[in-house]
Amino acid sequence: MSKAAAPNNTSSQLQENRVFKPAKEFAGRAHIKSMAHYKKLWTESVTKPDKFWSAHAKAELVWQKPFKKVLQWKEPFAKWFIGGQLNVSANCLDRWLGTAYANKAALIWEGEPATDGKPGEERVLTYSQLHREVCRFANVLKRNGVGRGDRVILYLPMVPEAAISMLACTRIGAVHSVVFGGFSAQSVADRIQDSGAKMVITADGGYRRGAVVPLKKNVDDALKLQDAEGKSLTSTIEKVIVLRRTWNEVHMAEGRDVFWHRELDYVDDKCPPAKMDSEAPLFILYTSGSTGKPKGILHSTAGYLLGAKMTSKYVFDLRDEDVYWCTADVGWVTGHSYIVYGPLANGATAVMYEGAPNWPEPDRFWRIIEKYRVTILYTAPTAIRAFMKWGEEWPKKHDLSSLRLLGSVGEPINPEAWMWYHRVIGGGRCPIVDTWWQTETGSIMISPLPGATPTKPGTATLPFFGIHPEVVDDQGKAVPKNTGGKLVVRKPWPSMLRGIWGDPARFKETYWTEVKHSYFTGDGCRQDKDGYFWIVGRIDDVLNVAGHRIGTAEVEGALVSHPSVAEAAVVGRPDELKGQALVCFVTLKTGVHATPELKNELRNHVGKEIGPVAKPDDVRFADALPKTRSGKIMRRLLKQVAAGVEIKGDTTTLEDLSVLAKLTSAEEG
Ligand code: WTA
Repeated sequence: MSKAAAPNNTSSQLQENRVFKPAKEFAGRAHIKSMAHYKKLWTESVTKPDKFWSAHAKAELVWQKPFKKVLQWKEPFAKWFIGGQLNVSANCLDRWLGTAYANKAALIWEGEPATDGKPGEERVLTYSQLHREVCRFANVLKRNGVGRGDRVILYLPMVPEAAISMLACTRIGAVHSVVFGGFSAQSVADRIQDSGAKMVITADGGYRRGAVVPLKKNVDDALKLQDAEGKSLTSTIEKVIVLRRTWNEVHMAEGRDVFWHRELDYVDDKCPPAKMDSEAPLFILYTSGSTGKPKGILHSTAGYLLGAKMTSKYVFDLRDEDVYWCTADVGWVTGHSYIVYGPLANGATAVMYEGAPNWPEPDRFWRIIEKYRVTILYTAPTAIRAFMKWGEEWPKKHDLSSLRLLGSVGEPINPEAWMWYHRVIGGGRCPIVDTWWQTETGSIMISPLPGATPTKPGTATLPFFGIHPEVVDDQGKAVPKNTGGKLVVRKPWPSMLRGIWGDPARFKETYWTEVKHSYFTGDGCRQDKDGYFWIVGRIDDVLNVAGHRIGTAEVEGALVSHPSVAEAAVVGRPDELKGQALVCFVTLKTGVHATPELKNELRNHVGKEIGPVAKPDDVRFADALPKTRSGKIMRRLLKQVAAGVEIKGDTTTLEDLSVLAKLTSAEEG
């Protein structure tokens, strides 16, 4: 288990008896007020799913045409709310027009502070303003040839226009695929090729720690890339829309590239929402798996929106007066569901921040919380561990008394970080919702509900409504309490992925063959005596580095594409800050010498191939990689070497035992 080495194992056992009851403030007022209330609803949701989901889908969403049937399940293919029609942007925006929400802040945006010490810019968009911007930009999309079902790549900084473009796509039925700004030109090209996108929406640049990320330049490079036969990877692209953010000089290709602000001159603000079938594709989001290149996770309209909306409402216990801040980037699924779709579908006020948590100083987050009186903060354990390292003096400088609820997502939160978050940021009074879910699940699956669930540091606790997770052994049989196993989900749920774009066979193979009749999550888990789920982390060849999913196969592929590299194996090493660090073992081609320069070059090469997020923490040269007689790389051993622990376990199947000795001694080389 790659994540088994997470730094929290023994201490999590110690914390298991430490229980935090729901705060009084929640137990009386929250949407779900008690454990009995939760249990009743959860039981209904899994024993009578049709009735449960039908009632909630009708109550929560605005339909243009009512659905006829709740679920059609032909494993592994689900169709939810069949016959229904609705529009996501209308559910996030139009429904609030003509109500008291129309002039409520939908998005409060804070830009990264300027390098000269000036504070970040700020922009507030009310629901009616956001509606107008979305309608105008939807008309720009139409004007540039985008329509129903067309794929559009979004490669943007964290500015309101990221949300505006996503919503504009949904308004006309186009399918967006957001690519995180920390990915490379090659990654952009791969995603264009795989999705067959017609358009890229990007910016002249974005700010990150005072530097400019050259997004448009990366797009230009992506659009020049070719495959081995010299064929363009991106020939489907017809148009590129460029947002002015930094006003840096960019190259504009005649006939292909147009500026966002110029295009707005040609359109009005009337754009009726397209009637979309419940199952119409809504977006594709690429994520790393255990093999090959990232896969395009496909989500569809009604089920996804219902999941995002209901989890936002119940897990964060959203109230009208909340100022809610999710610190993720819209390039990840957390940004999709919990910056854009979930909060807006609930009429909430969401904060969006462009920059880094420690720019210009490590109190950036606390300043923002104080400034906007943020009430709910949703962030990642990696960030919390960094804040711990930077010291309590930074949050202490600010008034954080507006906070009432804290959330955590992306990786297991170690109890130490949980306790620090609770004490220093939450002032001992804010419940913590540790939310487990995945790009594939679309919305939160396992999490406390703040008015109902007693929490324990380090566990995501119990399943959300309609979710039926289980911990099973290799035969797919549920294991007894306190026994480790694979985490699966037994029944379909509305916001589940509908497939891998263009690859139904891989969809089946990846998620539905490991354990019969169940969705396999790729995570290891155990349940404690109270039935709480303790997620251990990935048990497949996916790493979780600072909350980002990185496939070892992908990094290995990038390494062997370098002319000096013969073979590569990539494993995770426990890391105090990032959860896992990326360690690469590399053998070189004959005649190539292992030098510190080459190490650096290989790190940069991976950065260029995949993106800065995947840059290895460590590259180690070896004469050979340890393999079994059948030629399989022995990752288990490499993990131990990477972690610097004594080699344990059976090594008798090693083809050449001397390899191991060389590897261990090659560490410094
Ligand atoms: C991990 C992010 C423990 C897990 C929403 C999962 C977590 C992967 C938690 C999905 C949590 C996410 N506790 N582990 N609360 N949340 N994970 O697709 O390994 O980027 O499989 O989705 O992150 O990562 P993804």
